[in-house]
Amino acid sequence: MPLVVRPASAGELARAEELVTSSINDLTVRHGFGPIATSRSPDFQVFCLQDDPRGVWLAEENGEIVGFALSWVCGRLWFLAELFVAPGRQGQGIGNELLDRTMQHASESGATEKSLITFAFNVVSQGLYVRHGLFPRVPIHLCSAERESLVPHVQDSALRATPIQSTAADLEMLRQLDVATLGVSREKHHRYLLRDPRMKGVFLEDGGERVGYAYIAATGHIGPLAVMHAHAMPEAFRAALAMAVAGNAKKISVFVPGMSEALAIAASHSMRFALPMVLMSTRDYGDWTRYLPRNPGFM
Ligand SMILES: CC(C)(COP(=O)(O)OP(=O)(O)OC[C@H]1O[C@@H](n2cnc3c(N)ncnc32)[C@H](O)[C@@H]1OP(=O)(O)O)[C@@H](O)C(=O)NCCC(=O)NCCS
Repeated sequence: MPLVVRPASAGELARAEELVTSSINDLTVRHGFGPIATSRSPDFQVFCLQDDPRGVWLAEENGEIVGFALSWVCGRLWFLAELFVAPGRQGQGIGNELLDRTMQHASESGATEKSLITFAFNVVSQGLYVRHGLFPRVPIHLCSAERESLVPHVQDSALRATPIQSTAADLEMLRQLDVATLGVSREKHHRYLLRDPRMKGVFLEDGGERVGYAYIAATGHIGPLAVMHAHAMPEAFRAALAMAVAGNAKKISVFVPGMSEALAIAASHSMRFALPMVLMSTRDYGDWTRYLPRNPGFM
């Protein structure tokens, strides 16, 4: 059967994620980073499909998934969360086809800005995206450390952490923080995170004023994290680190943009730079001194 590019259904997402895992590991092994991805339940992918199926595409051949793409839209921002082609089928135009379909999602939904986060060492993906008008703008490092090794570095924070609730008032505060840092509201994504029992979402308060928010996963991963003003980032990041270290995960990890003061703190706490990524976009948007993405797909 010839190659077919078609919308994906929810029942296919677990198989699509297996392809994503093998494609990531093939790439990272080739570049000396070892296999970094493990199979995970496609929870965010299912959420995105139910929210807006126009962004979820797969390429199939002889009943086998050989490519997968997923994009989401918030307001004027279209974000490519995933684009992966099976290792043996790369360089044959499949990625290009999938990208064209997901980009139709941008025009259909009226999004005017396009963005994604890709591997800084993948010249193929960057070449493909540049041809579609997205340019490399912000270096991002995945930083990680054993939790035990961070214990001596963390101190009590001057910021108070209070749980985020799914109330209208809390969602409005999150909206203000996201509009200030990213230019768009991500209410649906906060609702998704707040439903996840493995995620802890908190507002960070300075003398009763909410200066930012942070999410800490039971796995020890920090992010997303946002602050209203750049000067609050160091203390907000230290507070998030302290919360993560207080948990019982083996490792602590976080994606940190190159211009964020959090990167110097991560390095001074002996966190290792585990994977260099780069944010690409059609034009400058967002203040990356004030926002730590959750991961390359969620942003
Ligand atoms: C990135 C990926 C999705 C692209 O899919 P693909 O099917 O291999 O890509 P295509 O064959 O459609 O297109 C590749 C393009 O990269 C271009 N390219 C390849 N090497 C390049 C280089 N060194 N410099 C610039 N451009 C390059 C090719 O010219 C081609 O563009 P063209 O067809 O317009 O000439 C796929 O290679 C993949 O899954 N890679 C591993 C995982 C990954 O990095 N995914 C991206 C995550 S955001």
